[in-house]
Amino acid sequence: MIKEKVRIVSNNRLSDGVYELVLDGASKVDCGQFIELTIPGFYLNRPFSVADYENGKLTVLYKILGEGTLAMTGLKEGTYLDMINGLGNGFLVDRAEKPLLVGGGIGIAPLYYLAKELVKRGKTPTIVLGYRTKNEVFYLKEFEKLGVTMVATDDGTLGLKGNVLTVIKASEIDFDYYYACGPMVMLNALKEYSTKGEISLEARMGCGFGACMGCSIMTTSGTKRVCKEGPVFDAGEVI
Ligand SMILES: Cc1cc2nc3c(=O)[nH]c(=O)nc-3n(C[C@H](O)[C@H](O)[C@H](O)COP(=O)(O)OP(=O)(O)OC[C@H]3O[C@@H](n4cnc5c(N)ncnc54)[C@H](O)[C@@H]3O)c2cc1C
Ligand code: FES
Repeated sequence: MIKEKVRIVSNNRLSDGVYELVLDGASKVDCGQFIELTIPGFYLNRPFSVADYENGKLTVLYKILGEGTLAMTGLKEGTYLDMINGLGNGFLVDRAEKPLLVGGGIGIAPLYYLAKELVKRGKTPTIVLGYRTKNEVFYLKEFEKLGVTMVATDDGTLGLKGNVLTVIKASEIDFDYYYACGPMVMLNALKEYSTKGEISLEARMGCGFGACMGCSIMTTSGTKRVCKEGPVFDAGEVI
């Protein structure tokens, strides 16, 4: 965990409600770890996954949810932000030989950095992305450069009509281990299909570094904190 000041390189809209924020001056961070940003005028930090990292440049993909993320859309290039970097555990990148990446909505964000790291290790991921509708699609071209990428939308406006499980079941994907991030309902459905993988969870956070227990979840080996023992957990251990 490290506190640092980072400079906004760009802050652009990608699709309906989704933005890409690129920050410069960040220390190296592992894929699957997360950061906390201080948004000027807001007391509590906001946690975000790391969507990409290269040579000090860290990318966050964010969805407008409430006042904090709405205010972020107005942040200008050149502004300095306080950030806590290197939080949480990260993905077990070397665990898969035939990786399957499953992302839903803004949960797709951390899978991009993971996909790049897998490709660097000579492993081509199969990628299944779920969105609500075509207008909310982001980073599809970027993923397509890294592996076979399949899409589902709830309303069928792009890819298969349905969700990520619709695609996985229809495509008979050959994988030995999956990495998933997305809404709890998606992660539960995936866990029922297979527990051969790991899932990145979100929880409402207080301190963000293990002190308040506010982000605790129940696992097969007792209570664990999403911010400290997570956000990535073995799919089979989460209750
Ligand atoms: C490990 C982790 C990674 C995340 N990665 C991303 C990401 O890559 N992109 C993205 O868009 N969002 C991500 N989120 C969710 C993001 O933190 C919330 O959407 C954001 O904090 C909402 O802030 P707000 O002020 O707009 O909303 P408000 O509802 O006004 O937030 C009020 C308070 O609740 C907290 N809060 C609200 N929703 C969440 C939530 N789902 N998780 C944790 N705290 C929350 C906020 O930090 C704030 O303190 C992540 C959350 C966690 C825990
Ligand atoms: S947010 Fe305080 S322990 Fe996780």
